[in-house]
Amino acid sequence: MSKKPIILAIESSCDDTSASVSRGKKILSNIIANQEIHTKYGGVVPELASRAHQQNIVPVVNAAIKEAKITKNKIDAVAFTNGPGLLDSLLVGSSFAKSFSMALNIPLISVNHMHGHILSLFIDEGQNIPKFPFLCLTVSGGHTQIVKVKNPYDMEIIGSTLDDAAGEAFDKSAKILGLPYPGGPHIQKHGEKGNKFAFTFGKPKIKELNFSFSGLKTSIKYTIEKEVNKDQNFIKNNLSDLCASIQYSIVNILVNKLEKAINITNIKEVGIAGGVSANSFLRKELKKSANKYNYNIYIPKFEYCTDNAAMIAIAGYFKYLNKDFISQDIAPSARLDF
Ligand code: KG4
Ligand code: ZN
Repeated sequence: MSKKPIILAIESSCDDTSASVSRGKKILSNIIANQEIHTKYGGVVPELASRAHQQNIVPVVNAAIKEAKITKNKIDAVAFTNGPGLLDSLLVGSSFAKSFSMALNIPLISVNHMHGHILSLFIDEGQNIPKFPFLCLTVSGGHTQIVKVKNPYDMEIIGSTLDDAAGEAFDKSAKILGLPYPGGPHIQKHGEKGNKFAFTFGKPKIKELNFSFSGLKTSIKYTIEKEVNKDQNFIKNNLSDLCASIQYSIVNILVNKLEKAINITNIKEVGIAGGVSANSFLRKELKKSANKYNYNIYIPKFEYCTDNAAMIAIAGYFKYLNKDFISQDIAPSARLDF
């Protein structure tokens, strides 16, 4: 297996339809079709998501192949997200991947979405990559985990959220503030000029390396409701300070737990991944923390933080090296084990 494999990867676990072509660890294309339709509903509507995936999948795959400047017969394997995620959305990507692999008679590779987020740190962009074992804070709309990554094939969750994910905390707070979905980028934008100490919200007291965000959400909700009762324009007049304070609270919880994990495990190689890792305040705070506590921090490029197929391609690449292929009988799972 001396030649670097060319992999077509498909990601359709939530509301983005994405296809990517990779050669070895390099990404040749990474096409993402966002589904605007969910914005007005304040969250992802599963039925609409799967319908949009069905409409998008063929043009997105064709665009990925075209941009990679290859032809279909050059593809060595097809990788796809097998879960966790929305079942009807996963089914669109997995059915497409299966037919593609059958038509071209090439191997099929199933990828766990969360492994994809973590392994996005290894996409070759000429950057530094973490040395094994490393800790990864994986923060997305559905998950918040601290993972001990021993190698690309052996990962262990050492802490996770007991209720909402960090991304959900951003999204639900944004909804309370009347901001569109997904809320994370909006909170970041409005918070840029705000005072992060303007409001304080209840802090969770969760043992060990686990997280909780539902209490914070309730605290934010009650604080805002109380003030809006007194002044109808409270949110409008305090939007920047509210966003800066909410962002500060969420990021603080994440950074503190990660520092605790570093202290307990004594692992000084640390990565972050997932949609929330695109947050510029989190990235800044982690760089400060890494300087203070003397650890190395690895942060993916923005385009590989939120859902994308390039991360499925790199995870597929590692499986390809092990000839870890899967048969056509595979069925995606909404709650796929880690
Ligand atoms: O990884 P991802 O794209 O999808 C899931 O696997 O869930 O993560 C989406 C989450 C959403 O909750 C979104 O609000 C959050 O990532 N997010 C952000 C930012 N960009 C995306 N949260 C905070 N700041 C951002 N800049
Ligand atoms: Zn994700």
